[in-house]
This record gives sequence, C-alpha cells and structure tokens, in this order.
Amino acid sequence: MRLSTFTALANLVLPSIAAGGFAEKDIVTRDVVVLGGGGTGTYAAVQLRARGHSVALVEKKARLGGHAETLYLPNDEYVNYGVEGYFNNDITKDYFGKLNVDYEALLPSTIITEHVDFTTGKKVLPGNGILGTVVAATLYRGAIEQFDYLSTGAYYLPNEIPEVLLQPFRDFVEDHGLQGAVDLIFTFAQSVGDILDAPLLYVIQNFGIAHIDALLSGGYIRPKNGTDELFNKAANYIDELNIFYESTPSQVKRDTNGVEVVIDKADGTQQLIRAKKLLITFPPTLSSLRGFDLRPEESSLFAKWTHNNYYAAAITNTGIPDVSVANTNPRNNPGSLPLPPFQWELWYTGVPGYFTTKIIADANFTAEDAKELIFSDLRRMGEAGTYDIKDPEIAAFASHSPASMMVSVDDIRDGFYKKLYALQGQQSTYYTGYSFCTDYSTPLWNYTSSVLDMMGLD
Ligand SMILES: Cc1cc2nc3c(=O)[nH]c(=O)nc-3n(C[C@H](O)[C@H](O)[C@H](O)COP(=O)(O)OP(=O)(O)OC[C@H]3O[C@@H](n4cnc5c(N)ncnc54)[C@H](O)[C@@H]3O)c2cc1C
Ligand SMILES: *[C@@H]1O[C@H](CO)[C@@H](O)[C@H](O)[C@H]1NC(C)=O
Ligand SMILES: *[C@@H]1O[C@H](CO)[C@@H](O)[C@H](O)[C@H]1NC(C)=O
Ligand SMILES: *[C@@H]1O[C@H](CO)[C@@H](O)[C@H](O)[C@H]1NC(C)=O
Repeated sequence: MRLSTFTALANLVLPSIAAGGFAEKDIVTRDVVVLGGGGTGTYAAVQLRARGHSVALVEKKARLGGHAETLYLPNDEYVNYGVEGYFNNDITKDYFGKLNVDYEALLPSTIITEHVDFTTGKKVLPGNGILGTVVAATLYRGAIEQFDYLSTGAYYLPNEIPEVLLQPFRDFVEDHGLQGAVDLIFTFAQSVGDILDAPLLYVIQNFGIAHIDALLSGGYIRPKNGTDELFNKAANYIDELNIFYESTPSQVKRDTNGVEVVIDKADGTQQLIRAKKLLITFPPTLSSLRGFDLRPEESSLFAKWTHNNYYAAAITNTGIPDVSVANTNPRNNPGSLPLPPFQWELWYTGVPGYFTTKIIADANFTAEDAKELIFSDLRRMGEAGTYDIKDPEIAAFASHSPASMMVSVDDIRDGFYKKLYALQGQQSTYYTGYSFCTDYSTPLWNYTSSVLDMMGLD
C-alpha cells in the first residue's frame, strides 16, 4: 500500500486503498479531512474554510457539537446539559462573530446552594473554610504561577518535569494552605474524579491559569439560543456538502504526501476521502483508531491512556425547590468532596423545575449504572426527609466517555507528552481535542489554531 503517486489532488489516480473500486461519486478530495465534529473539529473546519481551504468533516453522530448539547423546551426555553459557557475573550468573540452567533453573559441561575451528602440523602454543612471565589482563585493562582508553561492549557512540559506536578494534589493543598480553595477547584476539575489523589498536573490542566484568568476577568458567555445554535450556524458556514454525518473512519492510509480515509456510513455504504492532511480531534485510543495504519510508536503511546466515564443529564419533576444541591461528603477532606462514582451537583438551570447533573465514575460504570445512581440518590433524599421527592424524570441524557484522558505518572515522567506532541505532522497527521489540551472550549480552540498553522497550508 503506497501513496507516493498520490501528490496532485486534482489527479484522480486510483489509490491503492480504492482497489476494490469506489465509483467516482464516492471519492471525495479535499485539502484537509477532519475526524470528529465536536467542539474542536467544528472549529477547525470553520477556520480552514475561512482560510480558503477545502475540508471534509466526518462525524459519528447525526449532529455536530460533541459534548455540547441543548434540550429545547416549549416557550423558547432551553437547557444546556453539556457545554454551558465559553470564556469571554477575543478567541470566543471572534469565532461567534464569524458565525453571527448572538451571545449573552452566563450568570448563575441561583445564588442558593444547599449541601447534601448524596450517600445518606441528609443535609450537611458545607466543607470547612470555603473561601469566596475571588480569594480562592487568587490564592490558588499564586501557588501554580510557577508552572507558567501550562498556562495555555496545552501540556507544554519541560524536559525535567518538577516532581511536585506528579504528586497527589492533596500534598500541594497542604503545602500551600489551599484547603479553602478546594471546593472552587473541584467545581472546574470534577471530571478528574478523586482530585485529592490525582497528580497535581491533571488538576491544573482542568483548572489552571487560563481558566482562573477567564473567571476573574471576563467571566463566561453563551449563545443566546443555546449551545446548539453555535453548531447549527457552524454547520451552515462549513456547508452541509462538506459534512459527513453518521460516518466513522474504517480504513486509513497515510504517508508524507497525503492521506486516504475510507468512511463507513449509517446506510451501510462507504466513501473514500483523499486529502493532503488529516486532523484527528477525538481521543486517539487503540479502539477509536481501529483500521488506521498505526506505526509501533503510535500504538505504544495510544495504549497508555486511562480515562473516566462521564455522563450528563437534564432531570425534572424531582420535587426539589429551585436551588442547586451540592453533593457534599463530610468524610472526605479537605473540601468535603464526593468520591467516585458520584453525581457532582444537582444544578438548577434557571428553567423552573429543571436541573442538570454530571456523573463521574471509573471506566466500567455504564449508562444504566449512571441512571440508577441519579434515581437512588434522589430516593435517599426523599427517605431522609430532606426534600419531598416526587417522580423524577430524566429529560435528556448523554454519555461523554471517554473523559479525563490521563496516563500514569511514570509515563508522564518518561516524557509521554513530549512524544505525543512529536507525532504532530508525521504521516500528514495532526491532532487536537481534549486529550492534547485542557478540556475547555476556548483554550482548545486556541490550541487548534496553532495546529492548523503547523499544517503549512497557507
Ligand atoms: C457535560 C460537559 C460539560 C462541559 N461544559 C463545558 C463548558 O461549560 N465550557 C467549556 O468550555 N467546556 C465544557 N466542557 C468541555 C468540553 O468537552 C470541551 O469544551 C469541548 O467540547 C471538547 O471538544 P472536543 O472536540 O475535544 O471533543 P468532543 O466535543 O467530544 O468532540 C469529539 C467528536 O468526535 C466524534 N467522534 C468520536 N469518535 C468518532 C469516530 N470514530 N468517527 C467520527 N467521529 C467520532 C464525537 O461524536 C464528537 O462529536 C464540558 C464537557 C462535558 C462532558
Ligand atoms: C493562544 O496560543 C498561543 C500559542 O499558540 C499563545 O501564545 C497564547 O497565549 C494563547 N492565548 C491564550 C488566551 O491562551
Ligand atoms: C432556537 O433554536 C431552536 C432549535 O434550533 C429553534 O427551534 C428555535 O426556533 C430557536 N429560537 C429562536 C428564538 O431563534
Ligand atoms: C473494570 O473491569 C475489568 C474487568 O471486568 C477489571 O479488570 C478492571 O479492574 C475494572 N476497572 C476498574 C477501574 O474497576
């Protein structure tokens, strides 16, 4: 299988992969093929189009958005039960401006948070010494400022990785007196699960300088008509002709001249996409890259990931008043944090009767387990007499697994991220998404721009 004859895109020399024979109408030729139409793949496709390049965007689902999902209700109301808000900075505003997305400040829908231990259903006191947001964020920022190479959210680690980054976050909290900030940090880093025992690096990657500065300077903004609006407008901009929905790559051949991607579509047919460059935006795991011509160094890196399972839901008819209810475990300190598997918080959405919730658990926890956890937690609150629980319903539910892509501290120490980033550009293949950079949209978009620059197409 060689691609070396495949240099001029206009020249449809039948590539080796197409030996079985694709009809001409099933061969698509573009500058870049982007795999995954979530937050970063959609952004990449928009920017490539804006820069005058042709693109094919391949998405497994029937919609763009990935982790961004909106439930639309009657009376023009909606609930974002995935991504809720974006950093209020130029990166976000330029993107929204390009797509004509109207936006507004994302404000808290309630200032009341009640604290309940979801394992007993009983009301408890908040964790000890909770500081105000500004004080907590400023204190924590001062402690992590020394790791300025992490400030964009990418894993730009030095060759000699400070050992403290690999030690449990618990030790760092103790050394820097951050007990009163743990609650705030968990609000952003809850997808890590048990943050106190996680390496400091992964806590910073979920709540680091980029996130703190966004929080303290401009806050968050959101599209006025739900996050889906952003992706609907992006789909228009990219043009439906360039988007391949309900499609997954099943066979991929790459070399320094270009790539060939066979996609399997929901109707059982296949198409062949030929492009100068490939951009992979979902986590590159051995299972997500089945059918790719992986080289040994790629396979050995992609075999190292561990992850959490993460589910999100919108729930209603609970009987809980319109306040947020934080899952608070007085036995796990500092911070009184819940331990996996847990529902993070029943978050009042601002739409009367509707809450969102996020479930974080290990990689064996199924969607059914997550739904059962939602109902059993509520049942316990009812049995304890904390709330007059009615007949809860799950109005929308989504799996966001695999989430929180991590590797062992030994692998980090051994230069995992340096080796991972060294793959950028090899075999005409590039990567972005939340396994390469912090799992927050705006810094992910900024990282994605830098990856597009590396392609050298302009
Ligand atoms: C519940 C939840 C709430 C969040 N809230 C916020 C928030 O408020 N603000 C914020 O900035 N960030 C938030 N995030 C983080 C969010 O994940 C990122 O902002 C961003 O959406 C990640 O984009 P991505 O492209 O890396 O991944 P994704 O959005 O997951 O995109 C990956 C895409 O690839 C597709 N895909 C997977 N496998 C294949 C395949 N084999 N073939 C084709 N397509 C495939 C998926 O269907 C998906 O569309 C939240 C995350 C979750 C889970
Ligand atoms: C965006 O990324 C560039 C590097 O590509 C970096 O210099 C810049 O600080 C980043 N911007 C933000 C807001 O993180
Ligand atoms: C908001 O978006 C939904 C879903 O796309 C659409 O049905 C509705 O008409 C939109 N509302 C407004 C006010 O644009
Ligand atoms: C998940 O299940 C597998 C096999 O069923 C087991 O080997 C593994 O230890 C489990 N992982 C966790 C994190 O529980």
